[in-house]
Amino acid sequence: MKKKLGLLYGGKSAEHDVSLSTARAVTQALNFDKFDVFPIFITRDGEWRKGDQLTAPVESIEQLQLGKGTQDSIPNDVSSFLLNKDEKEFDVIFPLLHGTNGEDGTVQGLLEVLNLPYVGNGVLASSAGMDKVVMKQLFEHAGLKQVPYVYFIRKEWNKNQDALIAKMEEELTWPMFVKPANLGSSVGISKASNREELIKAIDLASKYDRKIIVETGIVAREVEMGVLGNDSPKVSVPGEIKPVTDFYDYDSKYNDNNTGLIIPAPVTTDVVERMKDMAIRAFKVLDCSGLVRADFFVTAEDDIVINEVNTMPGFTPVSMYPILWQNTGVTYSDLIEQLIDLAIERHEEKQQLQYQ
Ligand SMILES: Nc1ncnc2c1ncn2[C@@H]1O[C@H](COP(=O)(O)OP(=O)(O)O)[C@@H](O)[C@H]1O
Ligand SMILES: [Mg+2]
Repeated sequence: MKKKLGLLYGGKSAEHDVSLSTARAVTQALNFDKFDVFPIFITRDGEWRKGDQLTAPVESIEQLQLGKGTQDSIPNDVSSFLLNKDEKEFDVIFPLLHGTNGEDGTVQGLLEVLNLPYVGNGVLASSAGMDKVVMKQLFEHAGLKQVPYVYFIRKEWNKNQDALIAKMEEELTWPMFVKPANLGSSVGISKASNREELIKAIDLASKYDRKIIVETGIVAREVEMGVLGNDSPKVSVPGEIKPVTDFYDYDSKYNDNNTGLIIPAPVTTDVVERMKDMAIRAFKVLDCSGLVRADFFVTAEDDIVINEVNTMPGFTPVSMYPILWQNTGVTYSDLIEQLIDLAIERHEEKQQLQYQ
C-alpha cells in the first residue's frame, strides 16, 4: 500500500529558502513507488498552500513555490485543509521546516491536534530545543557539561544593566557569546571581547528575542553527532565543522562553501564513546523522537562540552546530519524512509494510550 506523504516546507522563518532546497532534494530521493507525494507550501507570510500530487522528483525550486489561487489555500481553516472526512488525506506529514514557526513545536502542536502522524520531534522536544535557556537547564539536570552562562530578559537588561554586566564579568570569562534564546542559524549571535562590544551585542540580540543568553566563549573544535530513533536511538559517526570565519555564523552556514566538514571527525575512540553517551542523554532528557543533531565543543584536552541540539537539523543532502548517516551506512533515501517509519511508529503507539 502506497503511503500518502505530505511534504511541508517553506515557512515564516529565516530558513525559508533552505527549506525549499531541502524539499526539492527530498523529492529527488523519495521512492515514488512507495509514496504518493503532496506538496504543502507555507509562504513567507505564513499562508499555507496545498498543491497537486507530485508524480516525479522536483527539478526546480519554482515548482515548489505554489502560486496563490491556483492551489488549495485555506490558511485559517488548516484542519479542513489537512484532513479529508471521506478519505484519509495524509498517512504522514514530513515537516521540512527550521527555526521559528516550524522547529519550535508550533506546527507540531497543530499536527498533534489533528492527530496526523508527522516526522521528527514532538511538541515538548521541539519547543525545549528551541529555547537555549530551557535546553541548558534540562542538560544541567542530565549532568551534561556545558559552558558557563547567564541569562536574563530584555526588561531586566534595560533596568539593571550595570548589575547584569557585573554578574557576567564575575561568572563568565571573555570573550563572551551573546545569543537570542529562541533563534537558530546564528541569527543575532555575536562574540564580544569587551564591555562595549557586550552592550552592542546584547542590544542586537534583544531585537530578536525578549530572552538573552550570554556564555563564556570557549576555544574548542566543533564536533557534531546525529541521533536517529525513538525509544532506542542510534548514534552516527561524529563530524567536525571547520568554519573559516571567526565562528560558525549565518553566512558560513548558508552562503559559504568553504566551511569544511570533516567526517568522521578526527577524535579518539574515547571521545567518540563519551560523546555518544552525551548525545543519547541529551536526546532522552528532551524526550526527543525521530532525529536530533547534537553539537559539541571538544577542547585541546579532549574535554567535551555540549553546545546544543537541533531538533530539525539542516537536511539537504550536503548538510551535516544526512552526511553523518551516509558515513554510518544509511543513505539519504533510507534515512527519509526510516524517519517516516519512526513517525508512524510513534503515532501508533500514541493511539494505544487512554485519555480518560
Ligand atoms: N560559548 C561559545 N564559545 C565559542 N563559540 C561559540 C559559543 N557559542 C556559540 N559559538 C559559535 O557560534 C555558533 C552558533 O552558536 P549556536 O549556539 O550553535 O547557535 P545556533 O542555534 O544559531 O546554531 C557555534 O556554531 C559556534 O561557532
Ligand atoms: Mg548551532
